[in-house]
Amino acid sequence: MVTFDKLSNGFEYIAVQNTSATAKIALQGAHLFHYCKTNQEPLLWLSDISYYEQGKAIRGGIPICWPWFGFHKDKTLPQHGFARTSMWEFVGSSEPDAKTSSVSFRLQHSDETLKMWNHRFDLELKITISDSLKLELKTTNLDDKEFTITQALHTYFAVSDISKVSVSGLDKKPYLDALTLKQEIQNGDIFFSSEVDRVYQEVDGELILRDKNREISIMNSCSYSVVVWNPWVEKTKKMSAMREDAYKNMLCIESSNAYDDAVVIKSDCSHTLGAIINCHKE
Ligand code: BG6
Repeated sequence: MVTFDKLSNGFEYIAVQNTSATAKIALQGAHLFHYCKTNQEPLLWLSDISYYEQGKAIRGGIPICWPWFGFHKDKTLPQHGFARTSMWEFVGSSEPDAKTSSVSFRLQHSDETLKMWNHRFDLELKITISDSLKLELKTTNLDDKEFTITQALHTYFAVSDISKVSVSGLDKKPYLDALTLKQEIQNGDIFFSSEVDRVYQEVDGELILRDKNREISIMNSCSYSVVVWNPWVEKTKKMSAMREDAYKNMLCIESSNAYDDAVVIKSDCSHTLGAIINCHKE
């Protein structure tokens, strides 16, 4: 079942419920901020002091970073682009069986977006809620010349204790350490005992996030970069809409086209960044 709903302040979202899971997606940003399989804990971390306000991104869930990831060299432009704070149009839904629901959203260029990014585009996000979570972010170039984007499905996973989780699938992959701006090579699995902010490159297989009682698998498509981020103690204190100890229970593993993996899209052509996320309980 797919229904329209709103918070008491009028903040609109789509609620999805089927036999396999429940989900909530805000119209602002086409931002999935809740996904929970039946009889399981929520997959995604969501700050309990997040904003749900026009122009402010929800802290948690899966923000869509587009058409640029990270800072823009023009500091007057928003970090991670404008898609996550823009109002998207709800395109429609389909429910092929009792355990599967798909919902689609669209964002197109406007006078406002052209001022920030002078390109004509059609951006569609299809989210499929079932035993697994699937996201497909399709960018179509409506300009008469090519353009370049960087982007990310900025997934905040809920974890039981950040100091006890690991991420595998990135062994021997080169990465940019955004804290030192140095190029490094990953050695083995990733463990967390301090701030981590890295853009992994040449990523080509499944990633596994291992937590106490569950294993989360992430399979990306048309994406060769992954951002791994946890702000740890000091940075969390400076983050908006995050409690001081929030870093203990979240980990971002972001399916992306970032840094060297920027995508050039020719006129009238499309590119679809995809992610399929599966959560297995032990
Ligand atoms: C991550 C970046 O993707 O997003 C971090 O690697 C950044 O550097 C984080 O701090 C959160 O960004 P924001 O804009 O949502 O506060």
